[in-house]
Amino acid sequence: MMGVVFNLLEAAVCRTYGEAQWYELLDKAGLDGAYTAIGNYPDTDAFRIVNAAAETLQLTPGEVLRWFGRESMTMLAERYRIFFDGHSSARTLLPTINRVIHAEVRKLYPNALLPDFSFEDAPADTLRMVYHSSRSLCDLAQGFIEGTALVFKEQITVEHPHCKLRGDHQCRFDIRFRELVPTKSPLAKD
Ligand code: HEM
Repeated sequence: MMGVVFNLLEAAVCRTYGEAQWYELLDKAGLDGAYTAIGNYPDTDAFRIVNAAAETLQLTPGEVLRWFGRESMTMLAERYRIFFDGHSSARTLLPTINRVIHAEVRKLYPNALLPDFSFEDAPADTLRMVYHSSRSLCDLAQGFIEGTALVFKEQITVEHPHCKLRGDHQCRFDIRFRELVPTKSPLAKD
């Protein structure tokens, strides 16, 4: 896992729970926490920190990953504004992950092990994304999706009806965008 991910996790923990908490988590995980952005570190280090956070916060590791995904996308949007410019909704941004966002990430970090997403036909109000990765970090993916909607201040619901961790052959997300309905119709006569 790229050091940049550990740096984001550190920033998310520090900004929500304070710096002391980050050092407590590292201590609990038995790690020294020296991660440089371009370094590559064992995935198990990340899982040890996530498990330590889950124990401390009395959450499941999946809930921690989802929280981290939500928190870090707002930070990524500030750092990599260029990927968000020209979009006003997660609906148009998410389909650009493979071809634009992660394609650029790969140029910056050639050793990155990036997931792949495919997009399938779905009802008009739904964006259907299928997540492919040997890492099975679908909870992180869900957090990133929710975080992308937060960046655009959109209300979405994310269903995860098929999940590899639950024994399905792939992970599928159905993302529904709630239309903002005006309380009063602009055509109303009174
Ligand atoms: C500014 C936008 C983004 C940047 C800079 C970015 C960058 C990265 C980087 C550096 C990694 C780590 C790869 C590694 O450790 O080898 C990663 C992983 C990942 N990214 Fe992105 N990403 C962005 C947006 C997104 C979005 C919108 C999603 C939506 C689902 C997403 C989903 C993921 C997932 C799930 C992983 C974990 C690796 C895996 O599942 O195999 N990313 N990304």
